[in-house]
Amino acid sequence: MKTHAPAPTDAPADPASGTLRLKSKDLLGIAGLDAGEITLILDTADAMREIGSRPIKKVPTLRGRTVVNLFFEPSTRTRTSFEIAEKRLSADTLSIATATSSVTKGETLVDTVRNLEAMAPDMIVMRHASSGAAHLLARICRSAIINAGDGMHEHPTQALLDAYTIRAHKGRLAGLNVAIVGDLLHSRVLRSNVALLKTMGADVCACAPSTLMPPGFDRFGVKATSSVDEAVEGADVVMLLRIQHERMDGHFFPTVREYFSLFGMTPARLRRARPDVIVMHPGPMNRGVEIDSAVADGPYSVILEQVSNGVAVRMAVLYLLAGSSEAE
Ligand code: CP
Repeated sequence: MKTHAPAPTDAPADPASGTLRLKSKDLLGIAGLDAGEITLILDTADAMREIGSRPIKKVPTLRGRTVVNLFFEPSTRTRTSFEIAEKRLSADTLSIATATSSVTKGETLVDTVRNLEAMAPDMIVMRHASSGAAHLLARICRSAIINAGDGMHEHPTQALLDAYTIRAHKGRLAGLNVAIVGDLLHSRVLRSNVALLKTMGADVCACAPSTLMPPGFDRFGVKATSSVDEAVEGADVVMLLRIQHERMDGHFFPTVREYFSLFGMTPARLRRARPDVIVMHPGPMNRGVEIDSAVADGPYSVILEQVSNGVAVRMAVLYLLAGSSEAE
């Protein structure tokens, strides 16, 4: 379904002026978005991507709006691309380094955000180690809350940029076979991607050792297997997920070497996929663990395209949420 995204040749309209908006004031997860809203974000990102190819990569769309980036966990791609997206839309932005904030003196999340809200930001982009942290803030904040990753729960803008990248290569999402291989248990990227891909009609096969398979996973309409060969057979898209050592409390597999030999994506394993397969990874990658460098840097890899597309997708989300909050 095509929707009416802003014309690519013009600066996007003031968000207050049109009907381009999401139903909620916040983006907390893919759960809660319907297929029409997902399509609207992807179509809007198409228009935003064009702005990034101009000599002067800036439009006045969010002039006068203030966006706070509040990252309680490390990030390279998400934080940087949100900052670039905000600047391309002319928002006033500030990024709070939690290591040098009063969080280190024991201030709670709620008090931190209430104090930031007292300075009247329009949107807060937050990453936090606790699942549900963004939902908690959305209940108490006037500002729009954008979830940039909450614990093992959701990472909605990652799934949206993944969908945008898949659609750019395949022209559609419905009916595609997507294999997702890696640390499924600890992955918010998995949960957001499954929600999005199922909503848009793709078939998902998820693969991990049984120790890294979320319990009850088959309830989500996803095929689950511990055989990489089975997962990759005939796949249009192969998505690798990082082994998240920092969230592991105990041993989930004997050694990294053994994990790579059984689950690592190698050129030989990839040959079972369709000839026009694309290989994705949200980053950061553990080379030689979940992915061989020959695959990560090989001809089927779209991993750096995912990063580029993240800017356009986050511009689209900021733009559409600005329209939603203006409409309330
Ligand atoms: N994909 C992703 O969320 O990367 P960062 O942790 O670097 O933001």
